[in-house]
Amino acid sequence: DRPLRVGIAGLGTVGGGVVKLLTENRDVLLQHCPRAIEVVAVSARDRKKDRGLDLSQLDWCDDALALASHPKVDVVVELIGGSDGPAKALVEAAIANGKHVVTANKALLAHHGTALALAAERASLGLAYEAAVAGGIPVIKAMREGLAANRIEHVYGILNGTCNYILTQMRETGREFADVLAEAQALGYAEADPSFDVDGIDAAHKLSILTSVAFGCAVDFDGIRVSGIRNVSAMDIVYAEELGYRIKLLGLSRLTEHGVEQRVHACMVPQSSVIAKVDGVFNAVVTNGNFVGQNVAIGRGAGAGPTASAVVSDLMDIARDRILPAFSAPAETLRKLPSAPVGRR
Ligand code: HSE
Repeated sequence: DRPLRVGIAGLGTVGGGVVKLLTENRDVLLQHCPRAIEVVAVSARDRKKDRGLDLSQLDWCDDALALASHPKVDVVVELIGGSDGPAKALVEAAIANGKHVVTANKALLAHHGTALALAAERASLGLAYEAAVAGGIPVIKAMREGLAANRIEHVYGILNGTCNYILTQMRETGREFADVLAEAQALGYAEADPSFDVDGIDAAHKLSILTSVAFGCAVDFDGIRVSGIRNVSAMDIVYAEELGYRIKLLGLSRLTEHGVEQRVHACMVPQSSVIAKVDGVFNAVVTNGNFVGQNVAIGRGAGAGPTASAVVSDLMDIARDRILPAFSAPAETLRKLPSAPVGRR
C-alpha cells in the first residue's frame, strides 16, 4: 500500500506534537497499521521558527487553504482552531476536494458539526475529531465502540484542563483566580482567548459533541446553559472543603422525557467521588450506560502529547480504511432534541 499522505494546517504545539509522534513512534504505528502515515505538506504562520523538528522535506504552504487542493495530500489535519474563518473554509474545501479531515477543533464542530458531517458522508470521506474532546482520553472511540451497545443515560465530566488546573491551584495554594490564570496560559493549556476556558465555552463546545455522540442527536451548542469559574473565590473553595466537597467545572448532559438537558457550571462534588480527585490539567469523562453501568475515563485533556495521540489515532483509522459516519449515526438522520429544563426527570 502506498502511504497515507497528510497535510497539517497549523504547526503550533499540537501540530509539532503530531510530527514528532509520527516520527518517534513509527514502529508502534506500523505494528497496528501496516500502511505508513507520512506528513507531506504543512502550513504555518512562521516558517522560520525553530520547532526542534526536521521539516526540510515537507512542502510548505503559505496559505492553509492550499492544503485542501494539494495534489499529494489525502488527509487534511486542521489545527487552526476557531468556529468560522480559515478553519471552516479549509475543512469545507478539503471535503469538496475529496480529502479526509482530522480536526481537534471543538468550536468548529460545536457550531457546524452536523453540516460538515453531512458533506463528508455524502462524499464518503472521514471527518474525525477524537482530539476535540478531552484531549488524550479516547472518549469518542469509547462511546462509539466499547460502549456502543448501551443506551447512554447520562454523560458528564471535567472537560477543560485550564479550569481544572486553576481550581486545583487555588485549592492547593489559597491564591485567587486571576493570579493563577496567567500561569495556565504560560503552560500552554489555555485557548487563544482564555475567556473560552474560564467562562465555560470550551467545555460547552466539547459537551455539545459528546451529547450528539451519546444520544444520536444533532449537535446543539445553543441548547447548553453555560457559566464558568470567574466568580469562584478562594473562600468558596475553603468552605466547600470544610463541608466535604470540592469545586469542579463540569459539563453535564442527560436524556430526559422532555428532551436533552445540557449544562456547564461549577459544581460541588463530594470529596470521596472519583471526579473530585482528578486534579490539574487532567480531564475525566463519566458515562452511564444501561448495561455497563458507570464508566470513568481519566487522562490529560490538553497539551501537545495527549492531543497528538488522539489526532494520530484518527489518522490510523483512515489509514486502515475505517471510515465511519462523523457522529454515532449518519448525519442525515441527526435531529435536534428539545432542550429539557434543568432538573426535570
Ligand atoms: N483549552 C483547552 C483546555 C485545551 O484547557 O482544556 C484543550 O481543548
